[in-house]
Amino acid sequence: MTTSDDTKAYFSSHVFCCINERPLGHKRGCCLHRGGDGVHKYMKARAKQEGIENIRINKSGCLDRCELGPVVVVYPEGVWYTCQTREDVDEIIERHLKGGEIVERLVLDNDQEELRPEQRRGGET
Ligand code: FES
Repeated sequence: MTTSDDTKAYFSSHVFCCINERPLGHKRGCCLHRGGDGVHKYMKARAKQEGIENIRINKSGCLDRCELGPVVVVYPEGVWYTCQTREDVDEIIERHLKGGEIVERLVLDNDQEELRPEQRRGGET
């Protein structure tokens, strides 16, 4: 029998952090070489430190947006982020995972092919 509890998401938020590795020099690059493993570890530690309940922060294989990495996806919203720095992780933790607000600055649009200036490390233009 299906009850309303059966259709509720198992986790309130489920975050996938790409840590896929490609050979050095690959034309698309990869999230691991762009810092994806550090993003995953730092996000997991920060979520725990903040006491965010019912959340899962997993490593992921390639999400096929390698040039924009490190790439992070948050479900159930299905919001894609690029996450270049610890400050980016902090902002996603604080505003999205705790506050329920999408961090527009870091969102990857569906047709986006390169990082916007405000998404680059240090906000380079
Ligand atoms: S290597 Fe991360 S999206 Fe492909």
